[in-house]
Amino acid sequence: MATYGLQVNGQSSKVTIDDPATPLLYVLQENFQLNGPKFGCGLGQCGACTVLLDGNPIRSCITAISDADGHSVTSMEGLSALDGFDPNALHPIQQAFVAEQAMQCAFCIAGPMLYGYAYVRNNSNPSRADIEKALSGLLCRCCSHTRMLNAIQRYAQGNFR
Ligand code: FES
Repeated sequence: MATYGLQVNGQSSKVTIDDPATPLLYVLQENFQLNGPKFGCGLGQCGACTVLLDGNPIRSCITAISDADGHSVTSMEGLSALDGFDPNALHPIQQAFVAEQAMQCAFCIAGPMLYGYAYVRNNSNPSRADIEKALSGLLCRCCSHTRMLNAIQRYAQGNFR
């Protein structure tokens, strides 16, 4: 049993966990009651469990809690606060997803949204092909993928609503 220090969506916290190999995803869901990151494949493939670790997207289902110790974790729920927006309001990329109706069941949404967010932050004015590449390996199973690409493009163009 060990205690880990994390900053989760801007709040410093400590958690005591039996097994250091416990996936970060389980800790976020069970200890922090976050439901943005989802358990999909559990194998680091689908991206449903994506969160930002120190600002960079990772698959939390294959990230051990011990590897997250001392780091900041941001889930979809914390995006607005991360960028200094009203924490109770939708982040601009979330507004773009709504504007493009870029969700069907939304189970997978953490992956496309957070990979898209990080890509646009690091690459201004991306082309459609760039965005497609940034989302490679992520695929919405209920056919919203094209609308997700539209949403990220809309966000990159600063056209949120
Ligand atoms: Fe983590 Fe699929 S649940 S990548």
